[in-house]
Amino acid sequence: MDERTFGRSQQHASVVGLGTWQLGADWGDVDDKEALTVLEAAAESGVTFFDTADVYGDGRSEQTIATFLGSRPDLHVLVATKMGRRVDQIPENYVLDNFRAWNDRSRRNLGVDRIDLVQLHCPPTPVYSSDEVFDALDTLVEEERIAHYGVSVETCEEALTAIARPGVASVQIILNPFRMKPLIEVLPAAQEAGVGIIARVPLASGLLSGKYTKDTVFPENDHRTYNRHGESFDQGETFSGVDYATGVEAAAAFSALAPERYTPAQLALRWIVQQPGVTSVIPGARSPEQARANAAAAKLPELSDETLVAIRDLYEKRIKDQVENRW
Ligand SMILES: NC(=O)c1ccc[n+]([C@@H]2O[C@H](COP(=O)([O-])OP(=O)(O)OC[C@H]3O[C@@H](n4cnc5c(N)ncnc54)[C@H](OP(=O)(O)O)[C@@H]3O)[C@@H](O)[C@H]2O)c1
Repeated sequence: MDERTFGRSQQHASVVGLGTWQLGADWGDVDDKEALTVLEAAAESGVTFFDTADVYGDGRSEQTIATFLGSRPDLHVLVATKMGRRVDQIPENYVLDNFRAWNDRSRRNLGVDRIDLVQLHCPPTPVYSSDEVFDALDTLVEEERIAHYGVSVETCEEALTAIARPGVASVQIILNPFRMKPLIEVLPAAQEAGVGIIARVPLASGLLSGKYTKDTVFPENDHRTYNRHGESFDQGETFSGVDYATGVEAAAAFSALAPERYTPAQLALRWIVQQPGVTSVIPGARSPEQARANAAAAKLPELSDETLVAIRDLYEKRIKDQVENRW
């Protein structure tokens, strides 16, 4: 699979990576064996970038990655984790001592001395404007605890503030056919600065696969049940912040735009890969079949201008008003 480079850090990632929130918790049950088969399927399909976090299953996702990579020393996978959401979400918690403790735990979970890329995990907005925070991250690099750092953001404004920090190697942001605002300023600014863009929630939590109906019931331990209105964390992380009924109808229209040979999910991934400035898109997968189908999107032909215009129209008419003024 094609790889792209994070300009500032010169690290490489497959253009389609793998999100591993699903292998931790919050998406219904996934057993440990199944989780390993997802990682295996992704790697065998050419994926060389895994995204995880210390909070996914409280370390389970990181540990599963360590188990898998420990059994496959032949593979070279860039692993990005995140830190900061196991404590109260107040700026006072974003200090060097805490960073060191969080980093120690992630290094243990991942079984490495130095983490390839660590991302602040959607911290409170003032954190992006704190010199002390970025000095502390530089210290983690100097101490060889991490090779590089980036941020995962909720809003375009946060992304732009982070890009202006010279040490930030990557910005992770929600980008998909139901979340287009980052195309306006964030992607051009990142490209100009050499900051990598990691596109998350690319399938709008699965909506863009077109497989759900208004009557679909998600498991109780799935954020698509318990965070639909932002009850547990930012509403934008569930179905990209689109109201479910609106999303199901728009997803049906989106599915009808899929060219021959593309599934709707692959159409969404291909659309993201084609946006200038994107380094890697990280769909989450709950089965090896999903992981393989998502990786295959990297090899599909470019979308035509006609399809791109139709996707844009759909967004403008049905989705934009719900999301653009919020994130
Ligand atoms: N704050 C943050 O930093 C943050 C927040 C969210 C996500 N992330 C990262 O981004 C990754 C991706 O986002 P996400 O997992 O939230 O959402 P996503 O990738 O948009 O959606 C994942 C869901 O889409 C469905 N799916 C995946 N592949 C499919 C396929 N080929 N065909 C049909 N359905 C498919 C599955 O749903 P079913 O389970 O219904 O099959 C899967 O659980 C996460 O795993 C995580 O690594 C980071």
